[in-house]
Amino acid sequence: MADLATKLSRLNYSLASRGLSRTVLDVAGMLVSSVGKKTAYQAEHDDGFDRRFGTDTAGKVESKKLGYADSERQEQAILYLPSPERVTRWMLENIGIDHRQYSFVDLGCGKGRVVLGAAQYPFQSALGVDLSEALTEIARRNVEIFPASSRKCSDVRILTLDATRIDYPDTNLLLHFYHPFDADVTAAVLRNLEASLARNPRQVRITYLLYTSALPATREAFARFPWLRETRFVPSLLGQYDWLFYSN
Ligand SMILES: C[S@@+](CC[C@H](N)C(=O)[O-])C[C@H]1O[C@@H](n2cnc3c(N)ncnc32)[C@H](O)[C@@H]1O
Repeated sequence: MADLATKLSRLNYSLASRGLSRTVLDVAGMLVSSVGKKTAYQAEHDDGFDRRFGTDTAGKVESKKLGYADSERQEQAILYLPSPERVTRWMLENIGIDHRQYSFVDLGCGKGRVVLGAAQYPFQSALGVDLSEALTEIARRNVEIFPASSRKCSDVRILTLDATRIDYPDTNLLLHFYHPFDADVTAAVLRNLEASLARNPRQVRITYLLYTSALPATREAFARFPWLRETRFVPSLLGQYDWLFYSN
């Protein structure tokens, strides 16, 4: 019974975040592996967002090619791969906050697709930080290109910065991670956040999209900060990427 409930919850999430046709292809791919090989979704080739807005967010950059000055951080980075637009939209619609009361921060923003996704909601500000000079340069260009008619947030910024060193806005915060780095860096990010909240207590929501294989290490990193509660776990249909939601 629990197994059926889990399967239904995965199916439900897939329909909501990826749509009917993608979900049908994923289920067909699970049942018949030759279909799966032909129809597997490849995030790096998904340029629907760019075709609509004239931006450049698609593609993939392996971690050793991210070009950081800090070689340890480069070792700890995963890679650049943009979030599928519908997955971000699902999160922003299901987080259960009044966007006007929060600032949005994407930690490891890459070329900025998620920041521009957030800019379509009335956040107080939308900030993206990434350690890659090359990717943040592209992200800043994307912010310039992104049409004013699609923005509901007027304060959109991209910084070239280590995510462990962010000076957070003094508002309630919605932080987004798409598996940017290993669990040690995640813990360092949370320590920096803890210091910011000690100076100025406020509401924080965290949404962490991650590879299923990294779930135990990531949960362990969050467990070191007991003031953060895991409020939701959303597994994906194919069991590759899951969402973890936290709140203080
Ligand atoms: C998987 S991509 C996610 C991109 C974007 N958040 C999205 O969802 O479309 C992860 C990004 O994290 C960045 N990153 C890795 N380690 C970092 C660090 N210590 N500080 C800032 N950015 C980092 C990488 O350069 C990469 O662009």
